[in-house]
Amino acid sequence: PFDWYAARRAEAPVHYDDHRRCWDVLAYEEVKTALGDDETFSVDPREASDYRSTGGEQEFLLETMLFQDPPKHDRSREVVEEFFRPSAVAALEPRIEDLTHDLLDDVEGDRMDVVDALAYPLPVIVIAELLGVPSEDRDRFREWSTTMVASTDGDGEGNGDLQQRQMQAGMELASYFGELIADRREHPRDDLVTRLVESEEEAGFDETELLGFCMLLLIAGNVTTTNLVGNAVRSFAEADHLSGFEPDALGPAVEEVLRYRAPVQAMSRVATVNTTLGGADIAAGDRVVCWLGAANRDGAKFDAPDTFVPDRTPNQHLGFGYGTHYCLGAPLARLEATVALRVLFERFDLLEVETDDLTPVRSSFIYGVESLPARIERRD
Ligand code: HEM
Repeated sequence: PFDWYAARRAEAPVHYDDHRRCWDVLAYEEVKTALGDDETFSVDPREASDYRSTGGEQEFLLETMLFQDPPKHDRSREVVEEFFRPSAVAALEPRIEDLTHDLLDDVEGDRMDVVDALAYPLPVIVIAELLGVPSEDRDRFREWSTTMVASTDGDGEGNGDLQQRQMQAGMELASYFGELIADRREHPRDDLVTRLVESEEEAGFDETELLGFCMLLLIAGNVTTTNLVGNAVRSFAEADHLSGFEPDALGPAVEEVLRYRAPVQAMSRVATVNTTLGGADIAAGDRVVCWLGAANRDGAKFDAPDTFVPDRTPNQHLGFGYGTHYCLGAPLARLEATVALRVLFERFDLLEVETDDLTPVRSSFIYGVESLPARIERRD
């Protein structure tokens, strides 16, 4: 998509797309302005003049912080914020390290698919454990979570079928979480669902919001982290960093992946009033797509924007968004990615990683690849 961003940005920072009937925001300053102004640019898709419900799990998500504007948003986010602070998340490091070792123990022979073996399973297991989902249900989790983020944009063939499956997955997941929540009311444990249930009354979370939040974690945290790890290995390979990084250099390198190959390329907003942005006249009810991936490659903000610079400083990328909705899971995503990559490189020399013939994930706003085959040599 990067050539498309650059060509469009060179014409103007903000464009109207007649086909998709929305505005595209492609420049760093304008993306930041839109994401930083919740009053003018609402996150609630129902504000759009052409809004139509797609049903299914999206109805649940509409009741979560991701699609709420302040002040409602802030109340929802406050309930869970403490569980996702860097200090709270840091306690998970030893467990994430063990899980990574377990996954890598299963790799046989001298080839591995980095996505399949590590990037895909790790985040699902971490979230499942955090919530308190028993290990025997993990495979179903992967299924649901993958189905739900598959793209339904456009009028392409097979979308009806996909929407059907997404609705089904959403319903199954909702009833699964409903049972989990009911169980924790009776039998509290040391997990996130228990703590959500306990904070339910004081925070005023109702049943729908509780369910919605559990679903949000699955959807917001899994595919994104998978693609961060995959995009990292791909970028390291292209930059000839296949023996990894020193521990101190890995953090900045992951930040650069978030800039250079942001797993989430775009976030949607809706104008609540008539307004102007980057010289464009936007009407109330218009949909506005903020291209994080384009902002991250804007030469007005970043030197050599199309070059992967693993020690880039400063690096004020927008890979986790900006403002009110700045990613709640950012500390966890950073931790998972750095631990996964550190352990991967501790155990293996990646001799060759396929970087040419890759299949992009099928989504209009997620950036990553379906699989990433590598030839490996064990260090241990
Ligand atoms: C919000 C990216 C991992 C939970 C966001 C947003 C972005 C983002 C761009 C802003 C949405 C908006 O402005 O509309 C990413 C990326 C990840 C990642 C690139 C991994 C590399 C995670 C993880 C979790 C998580 C691991 C949870 C376990 C959330 C939640 C929100 C959010 C709950 C909504 C926050 C709010 O509305 O206040 N994420 N995310 N994310 N993310 Fe992440």
